[in-house]
Amino acid sequence: MQPEISWKANSVVYHLYVRSFKDSNNDGIGDLQGIINSLHYLSKTLGVTAIWLSPIYPSPQVDFGYDIADYKNIDQIFGTRNIFDTLIKKAHEHKIKIMMDFVPNHTSDKHKWFQESRSSKNNPKRDWYIWASPKSNGQPPNNWLSHFGGSAWALDATTGEYYLHLFNEHQPDLNWRNFLVEKEMLNILRFWMNRGIDGFRVDVPYVIYKDPLLEDEPLNSNYMEGKHDPFDMLLHTKTSWQPEFYQLMKKFTEVLQEYKGKFMVTETWTDLPGLIKTYNAAGWKYFQPFNFSLITLPWRADIHKQYIDEYERALGDLYIPCWVLGNHDKHRVASRIGKDQARIAAMFELTLHGISFIYYGEEIGMIDGKISKKKVMDPYEKTSPGLDLSRDPERTPLQWDSSENAGFSNATPWIPINKNYRKSNIATEMKDPHSFFALYQKLIRLRKENPALSEGKYIPLFEPVENVFLFLREKDSQRVLILLNFDDKDKKISLDFKDAKILCSATMKEDNKLIDLNNFSLRGNEGYILQL
Ligand code: GLC
Ligand code: CA
Repeated sequence: MQPEISWKANSVVYHLYVRSFKDSNNDGIGDLQGIINSLHYLSKTLGVTAIWLSPIYPSPQVDFGYDIADYKNIDQIFGTRNIFDTLIKKAHEHKIKIMMDFVPNHTSDKHKWFQESRSSKNNPKRDWYIWASPKSNGQPPNNWLSHFGGSAWALDATTGEYYLHLFNEHQPDLNWRNFLVEKEMLNILRFWMNRGIDGFRVDVPYVIYKDPLLEDEPLNSNYMEGKHDPFDMLLHTKTSWQPEFYQLMKKFTEVLQEYKGKFMVTETWTDLPGLIKTYNAAGWKYFQPFNFSLITLPWRADIHKQYIDEYERALGDLYIPCWVLGNHDKHRVASRIGKDQARIAAMFELTLHGISFIYYGEEIGMIDGKISKKKVMDPYEKTSPGLDLSRDPERTPLQWDSSENAGFSNATPWIPINKNYRKSNIATEMKDPHSFFALYQKLIRLRKENPALSEGKYIPLFEPVENVFLFLREKDSQRVLILLNFDDKDKKISLDFKDAKILCSATMKEDNKLIDLNNFSLRGNEGYILQL
């Protein structure tokens, strides 16, 4: 069954790191059946409208699925193609759309294309990857770096040439300048849409094209050794954001438009002009580059206000923004800004105009886990240790309840459960009307019920007092005012509006009260959604 409607601007997508969501067969690893068993939770209890699954394709799991060995199958640790078909069907019955992770820049070195490619210089698949001869002194062809540390080139003994890997050496980069690669990859999108999935999240698309001359990248003069990620030693002018990237985004959207109701979001780490350029290149409402500003900008009302006002102005009615507070690559929002402000962030994200992505566990304010040196799983930490780059802390299993292993599995999980799980878990929070979970439930419900919040325009207002964010959402006769205290200090505020009803408060302790907006005090760490 294909969902008829296309994606709405009030969609709420739940980003689920499959390994850590729910284990159904007790091998300590989350799986597809675990998701099927949790559809009621996702659709009814929490109320999300879509899920994005981290990569579930067959993979040696060097980079936990971002090293794909077969694009058209399912890894047996997660299930089978039949189980995936069942998940698609059941999810649609629950009115939940499904997005897959699409990883076009690189494959696993175990992929049969790479096995062929590396076998000889004249193999027909040789040119499917990026090969180059060593310099006369045997060194790599240029100074390009791997995101995970060290050179981006690995010498392959069989043919004496280097292959390019912008990530781990077990993740060789595909050569998209070869037309056959492009054709095959676009067909993979069709393959999964034909099976009924509703959209894709695209992994690092801005690095797909590299300088064909393989010139060195310039040094970054701001780089400080020991303080910054070694990858930032260079300015990546030759390995990212090449002109062909924009053309490719257009091609992606054209493939999606062969179908109905599809959607695509891309992982795009760039500034505001870069995002606008990406939108314009793709030129399709249901294509969105992730806006990561809620993760990357300093947590201050004025800074966010300036950014969002400008972004909304630039997008106009043409495009929909796409917001996110966290993901499997970044420390959890409750660890970055504290649990109290994470409630403000949730209220902020879910009242902004645009699609919101919730990273699993954010609904209970999950914080980063502490992973001992012995238990490091992330290849990033293994190759660039000690710089707080590890992504393990934000990948610990979802805390379902207070039973052993947090109700995630009956076996020892693949990565340790966060120690706070006996206090912080879904079952416990569900019993508390003021909990984080209660706030998420209510925010999602309000978005659906109030036209101003689901379809209304974002109307910027002034900053009433320092570090307080104020904006309006408006649709026909409904006007909703959102007021967020980015501080832990109380603020005296006077607004030119009359009485209003609090639809929801960040602490959930002031809901349904009437308030005189001419003169009131907003507590520290408090935020209101107000019906005018
Ligand atoms: C993206 C993914 C990250 C992965 C990398 C390589 O940044 O989000 O988890 O390691 O690409 O595929
Ligand atoms: Ca399992």
